[in-house]
This record gives sequence, structure tokens and C-alpha cells, in this order.
Amino acid sequence: MTISSLALGPASPALGRRCQCGSGGGRTWRPLGASSLCMSHGLEWHRRAAARVVAPAASLSAVEEIDQRDAVDRIASLSQVASVLGTQWGDEGKGKLVDVLARNFDGGANAGHTIYNAEGKKFALHLVPSGILNEETLCVIGNGVVVHLPGLFQEIDGLESNGISCKGRILVSDRAHLLFDFHQVVDGLREAELANSFIGTTKRGIGPCYSSKVIRNGVRVCDLKHMDTFAQKLDTLLRDAASRFEGFKYSVDMLNKEVERYKRFAERLEPFIADTVHVMNESILQKKKILVEGGQATMLDIDFGTYPFVTSSNPSAGGICTGLGIAPRCLGDIIGVKAYTTRVGSGPFPTEILGKDGDLLRVTGMEFGTTTGRPRRCGWLDIVALKYCCQLNGFSSLNLTKLDVLSELSEIKLGVSYMQNDGEKVSSLPADLRLLEQIQASFECTFCLLFRSF
Ligand code: IMP
Repeated sequence: MTISSLALGPASPALGRRCQCGSGGGRTWRPLGASSLCMSHGLEWHRRAAARVVAPAASLSAVEEIDQRDAVDRIASLSQVASVLGTQWGDEGKGKLVDVLARNFDGGANAGHTIYNAEGKKFALHLVPSGILNEETLCVIGNGVVVHLPGLFQEIDGLESNGISCKGRILVSDRAHLLFDFHQVVDGLREAELANSFIGTTKRGIGPCYSSKVIRNGVRVCDLKHMDTFAQKLDTLLRDAASRFEGFKYSVDMLNKEVERYKRFAERLEPFIADTVHVMNESILQKKKILVEGGQATMLDIDFGTYPFVTSSNPSAGGICTGLGIAPRCLGDIIGVKAYTTRVGSGPFPTEILGKDGDLLRVTGMEFGTTTGRPRRCGWLDIVALKYCCQLNGFSSLNLTKLDVLSELSEIKLGVSYMQNDGEKVSSLPADLRLLEQIQASFECTFCLLFRSF
């Protein structure tokens, strides 16, 4: 396995300047230009970016020039379909890496990032893939994404009012599920009900929307083509929510208003709707290069993460196939990221740094949620969790982002093993949350250990 640092941190201005890391509410997989990994499984894919942004050679030292050439060579040699996945609890800086890699790909994916265009204008994107800033990129929002149409149109309006044309450049999977405003209300009600054991969700309705999908009464993008049955489908969902939550007030008036609103949305979305499974697979046949970015990260995976303190989708390698409709044999390089660990929301975090050192990392690394502004919990790199993520995702390389943030610290630690209270070693990340909460991480200093661990 290769462990690389592609000069992506804030201290490395030569590459990756446009896209600052940070996600919020991103979920799932998008092929760049196809689906955004924002709403739980978007994938976007896009055609080759027009220009590769590198610093002028004259401004680089000889060593920097060699480093940069090496990085560019490594990027160029990535497979036709390459993916960037979070190895921890999200916010690893995937967006920045994707932004750098995307210039060598025909398509790519990401979601939930703050992006800066060449003029330094800030765009907070959650559903639209960041590839939209590259004029030649086709962005695909895949079937694994749950799509909040008011949010999507708000992003599109924001982009278009800044001169970025979205027409014909964004495809939304006809299989993607619609996330309604009421899902967000239900998200808040569920969290309130959990009181002190709340998950700490983004309250964007992700869990409730995936619940509708799995219980099989969800409404999909393709349903917008049949507005004659839309009201009845939405009525079923709203009644369900009202019968479950006392605090959820449902009326016929509410339904009628929502249906009228969605009639307008349906009309506007019509040119964006596509069979993205077909688009993705045709693109693969045509040898287009596709870059896929996972939303959130492996430790938030509904199956493999620190359940129940997880999201409601599979932001690990398996989600690439199910969230986009591409076959496992098409997947090539898979890259994971981040030099230390952060986590937003509740749940166990064995290598968490509490107190002043944690504050220092948080402030230096600007570890505050892009969407909610919530301070991220910070901790040392957790090798046990990372190894587990490597096993699950089969990473071909690891990209360490934010290394420069650690330069502020007098000592850098790595969590190298887990011990139970009775001193017994725990060899892999346990499923049992009670055990995980009690676990003590053992630390060692120096970064060289990282290389020994794989
Ligand atoms: P949900 O996806 O909004 O249901 O949130 C479930 C868990 O995932 C919570 O702990 C959130 O803080 C976390 N989470 C969701 N999206 C992100 C993200 O983009 N970055 C980091 N954590 C996230």
C-alpha cells in the first residue's frame, strides 16, 4: 500500500487551492458530475477538467518541483474508476483531494464541501458535485443519494447567479429517493425523543428518508413523472409520520401545498432526470475516467461504523457499487485520507484528545462543521480503526491530509492498540458499543510507526 501526501494541506498552496475541505450533510456516492456524495450516497462524475491548476514552476524550489511532478505522475496513473473514501468519521479533507484528482478525470464525485472558485468566491455545496466549477464536467447525482429538491435548486440558483451554468451539466438519478421537508422535522423529533442519548445528526432528514426507502414507501425521482399518484404517495408518508409522532401536525392543507410545490419542482427537474446507471456504465465502456467520492466516512457506515452513532447509508467501498450502479470489477484505486482524527456528534472515540491539546488541534485545523458550525471532536490518528477501514475498503493508497496542522504540536501520538479494562488486548474494532466505550487506546509517538503498521 502506498501512503502519500499529495501536498493537499493548507500549507501546500501549489495544489488543491480551490476546494477547502469540510463537509456537512454529505451522504452517499456521486460520480463527479453524476451524483454527489452529499445526501448519503451521491456520486458525481465529470468530464476532464479544462485546466490543471499548478503553481508556476518559477515559484517552486527544485525539491518542490520534483514532488509536484511525482504527485502529478501518481495522479495520472490512477485507474479508470478511482474513489476517495473517508477512513474515519468524516471531514478528512476528501473534497480537496477530489478537487486535485478531478483535473485528471473525466468525471468525479463529492458532496458537502465548501468550494472556492478561481476568483475566491465561496460556494457551499451539499448535493451538487464540486466538479460543477469545471466547465467540462458533467455532474451526476446517483441513486444512492437522498435528494432534497428545495436544497438542490437553492444550490443551482446560487451557482447560476454566479455565472456557473448548470443546464445540461447535472444529472439526477431517476432511482434516487426524495427527501422531503417533513423528513427533517422527523429527524429533529427523533433526536429530541432520544434526549441524552441523541445521535447528534445533522437534522437534514437523512435517517428518516432512508427509513422511508427501506420500509418501501419512499418516493423516488421517477415518481415525479406521475403526478397523478404523487399526492397519494406523499399522503401515506405524512400519515405515517403523524401517527408516530405526537408533535407532528399533519393536515390536508399541508399535503395540498406540498403537492403544488412538487408539481413545480417536477417541471423544473425534468431536464435533469436521467437513468444514471446507464450513463455511468456507458461512460465506463467509452473509457471515460471516473472519480468517485464517498460521503462522510467508513466509521459512520450503517453496517461497519460505531452503530447507532452512524449515518444511514454505506459510505464505504460497497456503497460505490450500490450507490451508483457500477459493478465491483470496475472499481480500481481506492484512496483513504487524514493525518489525525475528528468526529462530529455523539459516540465512542477511543483516541479523542480532551482539554487544551484538543482545543489546539481544533483551532489550528479549523475543525468546525461546514454546515452546522459544530466544533469537531479531535483525536490522534487511530491505527486500529484505520486498519479496520483498510480491511473493509481495500485501499490501494492512503493520502494523509492536514499533516501541517500537526506541526503546531510538540508531540504527535498514534493510537496503536486497544485494551479492555482488565488489560486484555482487543485485536480489531469491536461491534459492541459498550466495549468500545470502555476501551483504552495505547499510544506511541512518532509518525514513523505509521509505516510499520501496514
Ligand atoms: P445524519 O447523517 O445527519 O443522520 O448524522 C448521523 C451521524 O453522522 C452524526 O454523528 C453526524 O454528526 C455524522 N455526520 C453526518 N454527516 C457528516 C459529515 O458530513 N461529516 C461528519 N460527520 C457527519
